[in-house]
Amino acid sequence: MRKLMAGNWKMYKGPAETLAFFDRFEAPDGVDVVVCPPFVSLEAAVGEEWPIYAQNVHWAEEGAFTGEISAAMLVEIGVRGALVGHSERRQYFGETDESVRARAEAALEAGLQVIACVGESAAEREGGLTEQVLERQVAVLPRHPDLVIAYEPVWAIGTGKTATPETAQEAHALIKSLHDTRVLYGGSVKPGNAAALLAQPSIDGALVGGASLDPDSFSELCRIAA
Ligand code: G3H
Repeated sequence: MRKLMAGNWKMYKGPAETLAFFDRFEAPDGVDVVVCPPFVSLEAAVGEEWPIYAQNVHWAEEGAFTGEISAAMLVEIGVRGALVGHSERRQYFGETDESVRARAEAALEAGLQVIACVGESAAEREGGLTEQVLERQVAVLPRHPDLVIAYEPVWAIGTGKTATPETAQEAHALIKSLHDTRVLYGGSVKPGNAAALLAQPSIDGALVGGASLDPDSFSELCRIAA
């Protein structure tokens, strides 16, 4: 099966830097590629060759929700999908399993693709709770062909600590036993560790943060996945 490589830029790159990225970024044909810029850079990015996803989406069609963006608004400007439930949203912005479910359902209903993020914290892993946390987070996610799950152990995000391919494989196999979908790995994926992770039978691609900001390193990651 083709791998899916998704670049999550987080709060980096306004429209000008977005255009500069796409001037240099190249991906081979054998891989699916998605880029998730910040909201204000989405319009600059949607003219490009690759599907563009938002980093979040609200569950309501419209309403008094200051600072939020609806799925219909994203569809209107040509955005093809959205991340939901990223651990940074759960950790810093009060996202819960229930709000993640609601956001995913609204996005799917509007015709967007969804990458729903799950993953345990360091304390949960150390406390032997990984399985329980993943089961709880996956249980609320809609069963839908346009929903992909990203497994992102929180202790591996932006820390330089990658899960070993075996640890990641174990979590992916569990997630796949709970939800029949593609499962991406996220957490310090770089050109130096991507091949070993992507060689695991249950790792269907990657959700890349830091290494997706540089067009050369994200191009290299896409070549490795192709
Ligand atoms: O969405 C991406 C993940 O949070 C991973 O980020 O590659 O910078 O560790 P990272």
